Amino acid sequence: MTEPTETGIVPATQPEAKKEETYYLRFTLPQRYLHVVLFTSFLGLAATGLPMRFSDNASARFFARAVGGFGAILFLHKFCAIVLTLAFLYHLKDIFTRAAMHKEKGMFWGPTSMVANWKDVKDLVGHLKWFVGLGPRPQFDRYAYWEKFDYWAVFWGMIVIGFSGYAMWFAPFFAKFLPGWALNAVLVVHGEEALLAILFIFSIHFVNTHLRPDSFPMDMVIFTGKETEDEFKKKRPLEYERLARQGKLEEKVADKPVYWWVNFARVVGFTAILIGLLLLVLTLIAYFGTV
Ligand code: HEM
Repeated sequence: MTEPTETGIVPATQPEAKKEETYYLRFTLPQRYLHVVLFTSFLGLAATGLPMRFSDNASARFFARAVGGFGAILFLHKFCAIVLTLAFLYHLKDIFTRAAMHKEKGMFWGPTSMVANWKDVKDLVGHLKWFVGLGPRPQFDRYAYWEKFDYWAVFWGMIVIGFSGYAMWFAPFFAKFLPGWALNAVLVVHGEEALLAILFIFSIHFVNTHLRPDSFPMDMVIFTGKETEDEFKKKRPLEYERLARQGKLEEKVADKPVYWWVNFARVVGFTAILIGLLLLVLTLIAYFGTV
């Protein structure tokens, strides 16, 4: 309660200054750029691959007419494929440099690694129990088990889809050392793995990352690279506590994201999510319309 002054007049209560939020860096600039290149090229590949796969479908033919025919669609598909391949090679180079040249510790094991470990299995079981009210909510470190799953699904998918795609693209070259049946198989593998990737990214990845209650309607951290202290503590309490214990929390403190950039990123992010959801619906319509 406000104390009266010597004159007996009670001073008006001053409004409390709005508490400045502290931001922490989660993703570096190159990581954020890589994600933009990854999702734009993936959307391009899905938007051009699906009309080739379901070429009888009315929306596929409408799209083909709009962009100049199926030849143009294949050209755009190959262009996006080169962009995605370059992004993947850049990522491999980054892993190699950090592991072999900088001898970065904890890349392949430990709390900051993308490699799954025993705690991820326990977290998955704990999460399932928590969903049905049979246990406490699991606490996560730098990457939760589903984030690791998303990462490896894309990593593995890139190898399968990439290899089969290039085998179709340069079939005469691959025919020198692959049997004929294998060249037929790559078309099936490419198409099915692409469908799996499209369904996975536009449903499970979207829900896990952006549409769950903690992040709805969109998790901006992959665009801004930063999150508030409250978000950090809530989503990754073990990482927060570990960094605090090691005295490394201060190194992660970052400037507040610039206002116009957050808004721009929101527009880009929502557009990407809407295109993804539209492609998901069109894929389901085309798929169930042909089986
Ligand atoms: C390095 C990556 C990739 C390369 C080199 C590549 C290349 C190709 C090539 C050459 C074709 C054959 C077109 C034809 O002549 O019939 C094709 C088809 C296709 N691609 Fe890709 N692609 C890649 C990635 C992707 C990705 C990531 C997706 C999905 C998001 C995708 C979806 C498709 C689909 C659905 C087809 C049609 C398959 C079918 O007709 O059953 N591709 N791709």
